[in-house]
Amino acid sequence: MQNLTLNNGVQMPALGLGVFQTPPEETRTAVTAALGVGYRHVDTAAAYGNEREVGQAIRESGIPRDELFIETKVWISDYGYDQTLHAFDKSAAKLGIDQIDLLILHQALPSDFGKTLDAYRALETLLADGKVRAIGVSNFMVDHLRGLLDAATVVPAVNQLEIHPYFQQREIQALGSEHGIINQAWSPIGGITFYRDSGHTSALEDPVIGEIARAHGKSPAQVMLRWGLQHGRSVIPKSTKPERIAQNLDVFDFELTADELTAIDALETGKRGGPEPENITVANFGIQIPEA
Ligand code: A2P
Repeated sequence: MQNLTLNNGVQMPALGLGVFQTPPEETRTAVTAALGVGYRHVDTAAAYGNEREVGQAIRESGIPRDELFIETKVWISDYGYDQTLHAFDKSAAKLGIDQIDLLILHQALPSDFGKTLDAYRALETLLADGKVRAIGVSNFMVDHLRGLLDAATVVPAVNQLEIHPYFQQREIQALGSEHGIINQAWSPIGGITFYRDSGHTSALEDPVIGEIARAHGKSPAQVMLRWGLQHGRSVIPKSTKPERIAQNLDVFDFELTADELTAIDALETGKRGGPEPENITVANFGIQIPEA
């Protein structure tokens, strides 16, 4: 398993299991399957409603806590300094852990950016108090990241973004890299349901990726994960199926050539699959995070 070193020296396994859109009742078995085949990093979120099941699976695994890297996210309805401090308590209690390895803001709240900054200040406090080992953001676009960097004391360790061959967000990735922020790809194999629902074809069916996959005796999903890793990103593929969970981790025994990386880079379509970060409001989603 390959690690990435965060900007504060903390080691993070480059590949983790994503549980976005994994229903709570399937989360425990998915995480158990992942830990069983060697995953040591799980990415969840308060808004996914499955932190409790992630916690159950990690406890049942018997794997020492310090060998696991648990990442979760504060939802926008919990933004504000005091609310975000309390959001940590809620997530930690549901996960059943005292310390969260990486706690990130799930979205910027462009309509009330001051509240986003207050939430981030709370993450800085949690970091100083040792309650979290690293802090970061997610779905922050260029203006959001610039605004945060102007105000923050701690540079985020990670910006988790929708990144797959059809939507690469190069500008925000470059800004992050310039500041030592790791770009972490959600939907790294472009399998996201929004994408399919909005009528786009998934990169899983792309012929260029299919050809590269055949050349290496690997699957298209494995090629896309390798492409992300070779670009220095963290990747957190989601699956609930044990054989795909295993397949998605089996990406450390082959290498894409520079030409293959370039061919995949060229697949950009400019079409976002997930929600437009500029339009995020609490009311749009209607999610509230219950107490533990
Ligand atoms: P499932 O959970 O049924 O396996 P992404 O993380 O890029 O959004 O991709 C997740 C989607 O891709 C899910 O729909 C998941 O379905 C599917 N998926 C995950 N791993 C693979 C794989 N190795 N091959 C094909 N589809 C996959």
